[in-house]
Formats: sequence, C-alpha cells, structure tokens
Amino acid sequence: MDIAVIGTGYVGLVSGICFAEMGNHVICVDQDINKIAALQNLVSPIYEPGIETFMERNVQAGRLEFSSNLIQAVRHSELIIIAVGTPSLPSGEADLQYIEQAAAEIGRAMSGRKIVATKSTVPVGTNEKIRRIIAQHTEVPFDIVSIPEFLREGSAIQDTLHPDRIVIGLDNRELEAAMVELHSSFTDQIFVTDIRSAEMIKYASNAFLATKISFINEISNICEKVGADVTEVAQGMGKDPRIGPSFLNAGIGYGGSCFPKDTKALIQIAGNVNYEFQLLKSVVEVNKAQRYKVIEKLKESLGQLHDTVIGIWGLSFKPNTDDIREAPSLEIVEALINMGAKLKLYDPVAMGKFRERYDHPSIQWCGNALEASINADAVCLLTDWQEFKEISLSQLIYQMAQPILIDGRNVYAKEQIEGAGLHYYSVGRPEPIAAFRSQVSV
Ligand code: UDX
Repeated sequence: MDIAVIGTGYVGLVSGICFAEMGNHVICVDQDINKIAALQNLVSPIYEPGIETFMERNVQAGRLEFSSNLIQAVRHSELIIIAVGTPSLPSGEADLQYIEQAAAEIGRAMSGRKIVATKSTVPVGTNEKIRRIIAQHTEVPFDIVSIPEFLREGSAIQDTLHPDRIVIGLDNRELEAAMVELHSSFTDQIFVTDIRSAEMIKYASNAFLATKISFINEISNICEKVGADVTEVAQGMGKDPRIGPSFLNAGIGYGGSCFPKDTKALIQIAGNVNYEFQLLKSVVEVNKAQRYKVIEKLKESLGQLHDTVIGIWGLSFKPNTDDIREAPSLEIVEALINMGAKLKLYDPVAMGKFRERYDHPSIQWCGNALEASINADAVCLLTDWQEFKEISLSQLIYQMAQPILIDGRNVYAKEQIEGAGLHYYSVGRPEPIAAFRSQVSV
C-alpha cells in the first residue's frame, strides 16, 4: 500500500518505518525541514534502540522516504496516517491544533478517494471533527479510521512489529477487509470496532496501566509501614491471571509523554460531560506524591540536606530512552537544589536533554555512574537502566563519603545488597530486606 504518515514524532516515525518494513511504500512527512533533512541523512531525531538500522534498510530498499511536501505525499498515497502531537493544554485537555492543521492540509491536498487514519491519541469525537475539517476543504469522498497506537518508548520498533493487539475503529465496514489485511502482517489479534470506542480504548488502556502503577505504589507505602515486601506482594498478586504480573513494579511513579498527559486528558474528557473521574484523579495525585518519597528517605538517612552531596543515577523517565518529559527526576533534582544540596548527575543518554531543560551551578555533570558517587553522602537511583544493575556495590561504597543508596526502582536483589555494607533504602521493601520465599510449589 502507498502510505503517507503526517508527523515524525515517536508514533509517526516508528509506524512509518514499520509499515515500510512490512513491504509498503511510506512517505513520512513533517513541516520541520531540519528534522526531514536529518532523516534524509538517516539520522533519527529520537533515541530508540535499532531505529537507524531499520531506517537505512527501508530507505535503501526504496520503501521509505522523508519529505516536507505534504501535498505530494497525500496525492501519492491511498492511506494517510495522522500522527502529529496532541500536547496538554494548561487545563489538561489535549491541544488539537496540530491535528486540525493537518486535517485542513490533507483536505486541501486531496486528489482521489483516500482513507485518513488517526494514530495520534485524540479525545472521543475528534475523528468526526477531522472528517468535518477535511470535508470543508475538498469535494472528494474519503473515509476516516481510528488506529490508536500502543507502542512504548525504548521498545517502540519491537512493540510495533509485534503488537499484543491492533485496534481499528471504523464506520464504513467496506474498509474492514483492507485495514485488517494491512495490519495482519503484524499480528492476528486485530480488534475492529466503531470509531468512538477505538478512541476511548486508547485512553482507557493508558489510564488503567497508570492506575496499576499508582495502586502498587500505594501498596508499597503501606508495605513499608507494616514490614511486608512489595516485590513479593506484586509477584503473589500477579499469579492471578485476572490481575497479571505486569505494571506492578513499585517505584517513584510514572512519567513520559503518554501516561501523565493521557490521564489528565481523560479526566477532562469526563469533566466535559459532567462526570467526575474520581479514581483517576487520585491516580494522578498519588503519582505526583510518590516521587517525593525519595526526598523523604534522603532526609530520614541524612537529616538535613543543605550542603550535602547527592549522586543521581538516571534522569530519563524510564530506561532505553533519552526522553525526560514528565520524568520524576526533574522535580526531584529541582527540589534537592532548592534544599541546598549539591548534585552529581549521570544518565547514559538523557543528560543533554535534561541540561537543556534545567541546569544550575550546584549541578556537576558526570561521565559515568561511579563518578557521580565520588564523595557523595548518598546516591539516588531514579531510572532502572541496566548498567546500574551491574555496578560493583563494593566499589561504590569505597568511593562514597557515606554509604547510603536510595533505590527508587528496586533494581537490586536482596542477595546483592546483603553484606555489601550499604545503608540501602528501596521502595516498599523492609530494610534490611528480610523477604523469605519458599521455592516449593505445592
Ligand atoms: C506507555 C504505554 O505503555 C504505551 O502502551 C502507550 O502507547 C504510551 O505510554 P511509555 O510511556 O513509553 O508507554 O512507557 P511505559 O513502559 O509504559 O512506562 C511508563 C512509565 O511508567 C515509566 O515512567 C515507567 O518507569 C513507569 N512504570 C511502568 C512503573 O513505574 N512501574 C511499572 O510497573 C511499569
């Protein structure tokens, strides 16, 4: 199929590459000419493991192109995918200006009959709005489809090539066979529904996952007080297939470009129809409070933080990405600076982006994790990068002024910590970790 993808952010670029990988011809369009120039030189604007190899392979095979000419891309394609950003407005509502602009431009460029599919996360009813806007600019008939995207940063290519499911929302049933066939090379788990339900599935899924995280974080806070181990609790809960084991890792809360934005947007969507989504409001509040637990633990172990030296390991909102959008590290770092602490920051890939957003004379930027621990009164692990899991804890203690490690992601096993001589604080686990689990299954 000839496909145009409008917007080369995470969703657009990765979808475009993966549709090309499956043998389609794809033109990825963006109005940012610098971004397009970089992409034409096979430089990815996002950090995503393996992305440039996939880009290169498909460009060389003549299946993938990058262009800032939307009109030509639309005219050349049967399917036009809208994948522009829907950032949050100050109210929490999704800002649809880029969607509206894209729809108008697609309408003006329309030559023959096309299918316009939306992959951007948009409030219920937006696809109908897109239909109206396009129709204002063209007489040519067209169809609207909603194909929400569920990829995760850091594993975006693999998630797109091997999705758990694909949701397709449409109202013209004649399109069903073509849309299912297009996606059948990715998976046979294809769920076809109406457009409004497809739009809602995306928000409801993200809100549910965010709820799972806030739920286990609250359980972890209780575990700390009653002496239970949240990692054991999560494993035990996860054995129930109705609950499932994933997204039950307690930590310092969720960040990123989706959960914070989409939870707030869903609260607004509900509010617009006079429904107060109380549960989701609490999920957001719990998430905000959770990141400050790190600071509470620092205070508990060091007393006051003025003039202390704190090493920070990890700035991105999760591993394998340089994305710091809504990362808990942003608020934690700023709060520590305001308390008079001196910080030594290290992240394998996100330091550049963090520094563009926030810098301060009390911050020392370090070349590796151990450097960030030299003479530190405490180290806080904020992102669960693999390299932190492999660090030599005996070397760490040797370099620190005081051997205090605040593990915001529970990355170290009991066996690694025991005997390491560390003062170790994690999330929802007794200290020292006293968990005992029988390996015998009955
Ligand atoms: C998420 C959804 O998973 C994806 O389906 C959707 O399309 C976009 O939003 P992403 O934001 O890339 O993807 O990251 P994800 O891996 O879901 O993690 C989100 C945040 O939750 C991270 O900050 C992560 O650290 C946190 N998290 C995740 C936890 O704190 N505990 C968990 O158990 C899982």
